[in-house]
Amino acid sequence: MTAVRPDTAPKAAPEAAEFPTGFVWGAATAAYQVEGAAAEDGRTPSIWDTFSHTPGKVLGGDTGDIAADHYHRYRDDVALMKRLGLTAYRFSVSWPRVQPTGRGPAVERGLDFYRRLVDELLEAGIAPVATLYHWDLPQDLEDAGGWPQRVTAERFADYADIMARALGDRVTTWTTLNEPWCSAFLGYGSGVHAPGRTEPAAALRAAHHLNLAHGRATEVLRDRLPATAQISVTLNLHHVRPLTGSAADTDAARRIDAVGNRIFTGPMLHGAYPEDLIADTERLVDWSELVHDGDPAVISRPVDVLGVNYYTPTLVSTPVDGAGDSRDDGHGNSDHSPWPGSEHVAFHLAEGRERTAMNWAIDPDGLYELLMDVARDNPGLPLMVTENGAAFDDHVSPDGRVEDPERIEYLRGHLDAVRRAVAAGADVRGYFLWSLMDNFEWGYGYSKRFGAVYVDYATQRRIPKASAHWYADVIRRQRRMG
Ligand code: NOJ
Repeated sequence: MTAVRPDTAPKAAPEAAEFPTGFVWGAATAAYQVEGAAAEDGRTPSIWDTFSHTPGKVLGGDTGDIAADHYHRYRDDVALMKRLGLTAYRFSVSWPRVQPTGRGPAVERGLDFYRRLVDELLEAGIAPVATLYHWDLPQDLEDAGGWPQRVTAERFADYADIMARALGDRVTTWTTLNEPWCSAFLGYGSGVHAPGRTEPAAALRAAHHLNLAHGRATEVLRDRLPATAQISVTLNLHHVRPLTGSAADTDAARRIDAVGNRIFTGPMLHGAYPEDLIADTERLVDWSELVHDGDPAVISRPVDVLGVNYYTPTLVSTPVDGAGDSRDDGHGNSDHSPWPGSEHVAFHLAEGRERTAMNWAIDPDGLYELLMDVARDNPGLPLMVTENGAAFDDHVSPDGRVEDPERIEYLRGHLDAVRRAVAAGADVRGYFLWSLMDNFEWGYGYSKRFGAVYVDYATQRRIPKASAHWYADVIRRQRRMG
């Protein structure tokens, strides 16, 4: 989404704000980042197990073997969510836990974990929001070629069928994929994510098969689930801004918008791949061979909600004399680009902005503008902020507290951006803080803490940070008003 309009709306504190009645107040996690229990109850390795166990891939050699031990502590974690007043919890299902080879029958013990988790949530009055794929492809499917292979989309539809049968009676909101951009372009392009391949053509092929997987799973879910089910997909839409108004920088923004956003929103929401994307990438893939007749109709099966994840905007230019650092795009360093067809775009860090521990600029207006753009481009489609949050260097004080004023400021600013977007007409139905608790931050391992709840990994003790108490207060006040 490209937008350049500066926002001038007044910035009221979100405590005083009004969100629509029934607005969803949530927090999110993902299976590999929190569960641990990597070899229990029949679970086999996913690509993230293999990747994290490969020396040099994850900072500090960290793995998700134990993570936040949520697999064993989910009851206490749900009790904590209840104390915070959350009305929804967004989690993901580990595919290799329920279907170890990515094919064939399900493992009941694996499914039972999710049944218990969902029952516990419902008991606590918290709506479960289940994501089917948050990056942990069964290793066996990667060994057979992974997402660059079309058959992986069919495997995903079978897995969606298993999950719909297992949880369809108690989970109302379903998300097919989380951030397929990362799966395709960080996994197969820059290689900073599992499976760590650096093949631009394979990355584009992966993107198409992820789109197809989303469409096929949407068909299966629609078929299996009650009519009240809400089906969604979550995208990390890049809010792209050109560094200057020059034609060259505007074109850089267009290219990144194409391969960062419209490669998914085009086929999913508008029934076709954008022509400029095809032109930018046709020297890498033959789209007419990749996209079969009938694929666009499958991929564009309607969703009920679009999930939007937002952390920071993306500032780009066309480099003049090599100015700018095209690797510094906020997605981890690699000698390989995650932007096939747009390798010569330079990424910039916004000047004069506070940064998070990820070195991401803090810019709530980016969220406001993104929501307004998405709402304008998709009239009638409800939106949900499925992730927003920040990593900071949190410490436990001698008296056992974690004060994180910067995170509170971050959340306050971004929640206010959501409120402003709603006030300006965007149909945003909810907000999920990333993350409920500290967890395995992919290539950064445990070095980055995104949680509202601090996790002491030595003891697995949970300590709600000041931001968790603040968020609980916001939720309480808003629900009273709503
Ligand atoms: C997006 C991803 O969905 C999540 O897994 C990750 O931890 C956060 N962003 C923070 O980088």
